[in-house]
Amino acid sequence: MNAVTKTLTVDLGERSYPIYIGPGLLGDPRIYREHIPGRQVMVVTNETVAPLYLERVCAALGGYQLARVILPDGERYKSLEIWQRIITALLEARFDRQCTVLALGGGVVGDMAGFAAASYQRGVNFVQVPTTLLSQVDSSVGGKTGVNHPLGKNMIGAFYQPRCVIADTASLDTLDDRQLSAGLAEVIKYGLIDDLPFFEWLERNMEPLLAREADALSHAIERSCLDKARVVAADELESGRRALLNLGHTFGHAIETGMGYGEWLHGEAVAVGMCMAADLSRRLGWFDMDAQARVVDLVARARLPVAPPPDLDGARLLELMAVDKKVQQGRMRLVLMQGMGHSLVTDQFDSGLLRATLSGYGRNDVC
Ligand code: NAD
Ligand code: GLY
Repeated sequence: MNAVTKTLTVDLGERSYPIYIGPGLLGDPRIYREHIPGRQVMVVTNETVAPLYLERVCAALGGYQLARVILPDGERYKSLEIWQRIITALLEARFDRQCTVLALGGGVVGDMAGFAAASYQRGVNFVQVPTTLLSQVDSSVGGKTGVNHPLGKNMIGAFYQPRCVIADTASLDTLDDRQLSAGLAEVIKYGLIDDLPFFEWLERNMEPLLAREADALSHAIERSCLDKARVVAADELESGRRALLNLGHTFGHAIETGMGYGEWLHGEAVAVGMCMAADLSRRLGWFDMDAQARVVDLVARARLPVAPPPDLDGARLLELMAVDKKVQQGRMRLVLMQGMGHSLVTDQFDSGLLRATLSGYGRNDVC
């Protein structure tokens, strides 16, 4: 590890684990040796990330018995069918219960590899090496794993924590600008949930982040992981507070599912979802016009969309929003905002105002 590496902890008792953040970490053999017991490692990656980083990771894993599975790239491949390829690769390599599944890639690879680790022989070791901004600030931390169903996003999966998260900030150099912005959506989310000072820092530092200034990116990743780790430590299995991490996601998942997985990036859909949550919060009287404008402005400055695609009408969005893991006894629950930097999970909203939000983006078909 080098001098600029930061180490955080996700505090889950005996299942606590570190998050390492710094440049060059994915090629550092010491972290792997410390956190990978046994001899067998299955590296799961995809066809885009493999040519960039697979050999470097494999070189750092010298001494282990290695196997690799290279998946097709894209959200539409986050499916049971592709997940089964990982299980098949583990069986074909004759890997035992002491093996480790290592996810090298963005959130799609991480979620699928994690679900394979959770299921193979009822659970084997798991290590996350996230290579997108989104996966470094969100999906690699906290143990949510799974795949999509054609009828609903992330509807099949398990909570399964990794042994460590290795966030190599230098891997972001090869990420395209659209993907960087998608990651910034989840970063903004933490400010809105319960970290107003971070939101204000983002308002001051959006340009350095877009310019990929190393200090700014490193701070944003560290602060996001700290915020997420705190919530996960308090409510690992999402019986309460953890649902706040889904700010913007009920609207966003509806957009992703409605458009067909992969058309809109997850972060883009979440960005619009946060704007819609701000709109509904304002209609409920919980958020003023100025606060709503600050949310929309920051999202736009991150070069993210602020309105849903015109192809999805409000009625369809409403229908899709009903397929959500936060629905309880048939009632939709949403993460909404009560003032800047304060969010809550609630089913106490006037459904007429939700319809007004959905139709407020240029459509009048759901009122
Ligand atoms: P992704 O995994 O599809 O990666 C985005 C693109 O970047 C892909 O084309 C990928 O191949 C490419 N890529 C990855 N690393 C790269 C690199 N270093 N250089 C160049 N290209 C690179 O998308 P994502 O935004 O990382 O993750 C989105 C997924 O994460 C969604 O499926 C979402 O549901 C899930 N997610 C999960 C959680 C969780 O808690 N488990 C949280 C948020 C999001
Ligand atoms: N991204 C939502 C969660 O991890 O709970």
